[in-house]
Amino acid sequence: MTISTPPLPANIVRHAATVTRARRELQNGHRGAVIWLTGLSGSGKSTLGHALEESLHQMGCRTFVLDGDNVRHGLCADLGFSAQDRIENIRRISEVSNLFVEAGVIVICAFIAPFVEDRERAKHLIGSENFCEIYCRCPLEVCEQRDVKGLYKKARQGLIAEFTGISSPYQEPLHPDLVIDTSATPLPDAVQEIIKWHVQRSVLAPLT
Ligand code: ADX
Repeated sequence: MTISTPPLPANIVRHAATVTRARRELQNGHRGAVIWLTGLSGSGKSTLGHALEESLHQMGCRTFVLDGDNVRHGLCADLGFSAQDRIENIRRISEVSNLFVEAGVIVICAFIAPFVEDRERAKHLIGSENFCEIYCRCPLEVCEQRDVKGLYKKARQGLIAEFTGISSPYQEPLHPDLVIDTSATPLPDAVQEIIKWHVQRSVLAPLT
């Protein structure tokens, strides 16, 4: 997939920081990274993301969760759920996540991010060495049965347009770094699997 980069803005010159990413990472004791959870609404992305953050925080890591429902109250409050708005949503999140990585933070993204191309663009921007794409795989029927927010019911009644999985597509990841079957995997096991992956790739220090 070819990723096009937007043209550089005119008359804007970057200022170099003296407190660099490397210095921050040294202070933090771990690398900056993006852990990107993608999957249907109700697939457990936020639950997993916050449980993961809790464990990482207890390990002494600097973390932050960016979550669809929260970000859409502020940074992306002007966006809806058309394909165009979802693309812009993920573009903004990717840029914010990239800043977090520069700040040496482990950012956990929990967004549906239904389009392969947007997730690839995020990975390209952030750098594949800083990026872990995790597919929270959960059958639509299970998400719909859970229907924690009552949105699937509304979508089936035609009260919500372009609802992912019902009237708007979800493109499964082609080459995710991890697949977690969130309908069957106990939460602590899922958290440990993600931590292990990051220890193996030296994002996190070995567990003692
Ligand atoms: S994304 O598609 O642009 O990545 P995002 O993760 O920010 O979506 O937001 C998804 C959340 O918005 C869902 O978990 C759900 O609570 C809510 N939502 C409201 N309308 C829709 C819709 N039409 N499709 C999917 N989710 C929706």
